[in-house]
Amino acid sequence: MSEHELRVSKIRNGTVIDHVSGGQALNVLAILGIDGEAGESVSLGINVPSDRLGKKDIVKVEDRELSQSEVDVLSLIAPEATINIVRDYEVVDKLRVERPDFVTGVLSCPNRNCITQANEPVVSKFDVVDDGVRCTYCSTIVREDIADHLDVD
Ligand code: CTP
Ligand code: ZN
Repeated sequence: MSEHELRVSKIRNGTVIDHVSGGQALNVLAILGIDGEAGESVSLGINVPSDRLGKKDIVKVEDRELSQSEVDVLSLIAPEATINIVRDYEVVDKLRVERPDFVTGVLSCPNRNCITQANEPVVSKFDVVDDGVRCTYCSTIVREDIADHLDVD
C-alpha cells in the first residue's frame, strides 16, 4: 500500500477489525460497548475503498482485545471481518470471524410477547440460522438490521 493510500494511522498495541461490511463501523463500536466516555483511543475508516469488498469499514481500538462473545456477535453484522491483534506495531495474530451456533444476552427479541421481554429473569438467546437469527424461546426470526436489536450497554 502506498503512502497515498494510508487513511488511518497504524496502532502500536490493540485490535484492528478490518474488512467490516461498509457502513457497519458504528455498530461494531456499539457491540464493543465503546462510546468514547472511557477515554479509549479508537480510529475509524468508514466506506473506504477495498479490493475485496468494494467498500469496507475498519475499526482500530488501542490497548484492547476482544472477547469470544464480542467476536461472535461481530460475525453477524460483519461476516467478512478480520480481527488483527497488534503488539508493538506488528500484527501478531489474524483471525477471521466465524458464525457461532447461538448468541446469548446480546440481542433483544422484537416480539413483545416473548418471555425474554417479560419481567422475568430470562436471558435472550438466538440460534444463528442461514437467513438470520431465530429466538430460541418464541422462534421469531430477525433477518435484516440485526444491529438494531443489539442489547448492549
Ligand atoms: N494495522 C494497523 N497497525 C499496525 C499494523 C497493522 O493499524 N501496527 C492494520 C493495517 O493497516 C491493516 C490491518 O491492520 O488494515 C492488517 O494489517 P496487515 O496484516 O499488515 O495488512 P494486510 O496484509 O493488508 O491484511 P489482510 O491480508 O488481512 O487484508
Ligand atoms: Zn423471542
